[in-house]
Amino acid sequence: MAEADRDKWDARYRAGDYPQGDPSWLKHFDEELPTQGRGLDVASGPGRLSIWMARRGLEVLAIDISPVGLALAREAAADEGVKIATRAMDLEREPLPEGPYAMIACFHYRQRSLFPVLVAHLAPGGVIVAELATAKNAERNEKPSKKWLCAPNELIRDSRDLEVLYYREAWVGDRHLARLVARRGEE
Ligand SMILES: C[S@@+](CC[C@H](N)C(=O)[O-])C[C@H]1O[C@@H](n2cnc3c(N)ncnc32)[C@H](O)[C@@H]1O
Repeated sequence: MAEADRDKWDARYRAGDYPQGDPSWLKHFDEELPTQGRGLDVASGPGRLSIWMARRGLEVLAIDISPVGLALAREAAADEGVKIATRAMDLEREPLPEGPYAMIACFHYRQRSLFPVLVAHLAPGGVIVAELATAKNAERNEKPSKKWLCAPNELIRDSRDLEVLYYREAWVGDRHLARLVARRGEE
């Protein structure tokens, strides 16, 4: 299954079919979000979150199953004049690269077992930012398929040990999205 996903995403990225640009909704949290330390972009694809984090001053590792996506991320980083590291890996089969991370971004990759692992990899005071399509998205869109859609309040339930700075589930254009910004307490 993971190989099929890799091939599908490699082909999509080769065709140039992917979102680019900063996640504009996060600009509202500019002052709350880290500007140094290590950042992890989970299922980064061509790295829009990696580049955004690197521009903020973080030392970023982008991980994804698609080598084509990661190559695009490195190219985009070079174009922007920022540095990122990349690692091709299968998140369904391999452990997350060792933390802790000052910031973790997880956009449009839902693996039910993964979110608690991400939380455990946050540094004290570290922040997770996430955006996932919700089950409601299926009312208007065939894709992504059910496996990739989060249940109502799934992200906020999984953030129960964190300080939730922002959580919202809503239609954004024609997509129904859950958006989260949450911080691990200082210890
Ligand atoms: C919808 S894209 C999201 C890309 C990026 N996070 C963004 O929002 O622009 C989903 C990403 O998950 C990656 N992916 C799918 N299955 C994976 C797996 N088992 N391990 C690691 N990455 C995977 C794909 O290669 C693809 O880049």
